[in-house]
Amino acid sequence: MPSFPTHRPRRLRQNGPLRQVMADVRLHPDMLIQPVFVSADDQLHEVASMPGVRQWPVNAALEAIGRWRDAGLKQFLLFGVTPTERKDATGSYAHDPEAPVNRLMAQVKAAGLDALLYADLCLCEYTDHGHCGALTAPAHANDDRAVDNDATLALLGQLAVAQACAGADVVAPSGMMDGQVAAIRAALDAAGFHHLPIMSYSVKYASNFYGPFRDAGQGGMAFGDRKGYQMDYRRGREWREELASDLEQGADMVMVKPAATYLDIIYQVRQACSVPVAAYHVSGEYAMLHAAAQRGWVDLQAAAMETTLAIKRAGADLIVTYFAPELVKWLAGGDDKVTG
Ligand code: PBG
Repeated sequence: MPSFPTHRPRRLRQNGPLRQVMADVRLHPDMLIQPVFVSADDQLHEVASMPGVRQWPVNAALEAIGRWRDAGLKQFLLFGVTPTERKDATGSYAHDPEAPVNRLMAQVKAAGLDALLYADLCLCEYTDHGHCGALTAPAHANDDRAVDNDATLALLGQLAVAQACAGADVVAPSGMMDGQVAAIRAALDAAGFHHLPIMSYSVKYASNFYGPFRDAGQGGMAFGDRKGYQMDYRRGREWREELASDLEQGADMVMVKPAATYLDIIYQVRQACSVPVAAYHVSGEYAMLHAAAQRGWVDLQAAAMETTLAIKRAGADLIVTYFAPELVKWLAGGDDKVTG
C-alpha cells in the first residue's frame, strides 16, 4: 500500500481552468424555454411573487421576444392572462384569434422572428371556475363539480387547431386529462397540421409549488383543487403509466413538472424513453430562490445555476425556467465564476 492514495480526485479540482474543462454536464441557451405571460391589458404588470416576471401586453411581448432572441434565447412557452369578463365555463376565449396568446403568435410569425413558440394548451387560463376543463353537473346541490374528462377532450382538440392556425410551432397540453394527446393529435391531423409536434406535460404532479404562477396567470380556482386530475406525489411509480400512455397516443416530447423536487422522476423518465424530456422549474421553485436571495441567505446567480444544472444532470434535455433570460446572460460569461 502506498503511504497515500494513488487516486487523488483533487488533482482535477485544483484550479478554475481545470475545473472548467472537466465539467461534463453543461447548460446551453438552446436547451432553455422561457415562459411568457401575455395579457389583454395595455399595461405591463410586474408579478409580485415572481421578481423579474411580468404580464406582457402583446406589443411589448413581441419586442421582448425579439430582444431575448437577440441575446440567444430561442424558445418561448406562452400563457394567456384573460380579463375576467372574457372568462366562461368552457374557456371559449382561448379559441379566439384575438386572445393575447393567439395574437402574439401571429405577430411573431408575421415579423419573421426566428423563435420557437410553444402554446400552453389548457383551459384553466380561460375558465371562470379556474379548472383545466369543462365541469360535470353536480350530483348533489352541495357537491363540488368535477372536471368532465371527455367533454374537455373535444375542447382541447379545437384549441389545438386554433393555436396551430395562429402560428404555434409546438402545442403543449398541460391539463392532465386522460386521452388528451390522442384527441389533440387527431384534431390537428384532421385540420392538416400533421407536422405540428406535441410536447405533453405527461408527468405533472398536483404540486404546492404552482402558487405564484396562479398570481402570474390570474388563474386561481373558484373551488377545490387539481388533485382529481394532476398526479399524487406520494405515488412513486405512476409516472410509468402516464409516460407510456402519452407516448402511445403520439406525444413527440414529454415533460416532468415540477423539476427541482422531482429529480428522481426526471432521471427515471430519461432512462425509460428516448423522446426529448423537458422539465419545468416552476413558479414556486423560482420564488423560493428569490426569497432566500433577497434575505441574503443564498447568492441568486450561483444558486440558480446550481439548481438548473442539477435538472440537466438528472436527464432533462430541455428546461422550462423563469431564469432563462438571466441564465443566458450568465452563461455568456462562460467561466467557472458562473457556478459560484
Ligand atoms: C396550467 C399550468 C400551471 C402551470 C403551468 N401550466 C398551473 C397549474 O397546473 O395549476 C404551473 C407553472 C408554474 O407554477 O410555474 N395547467
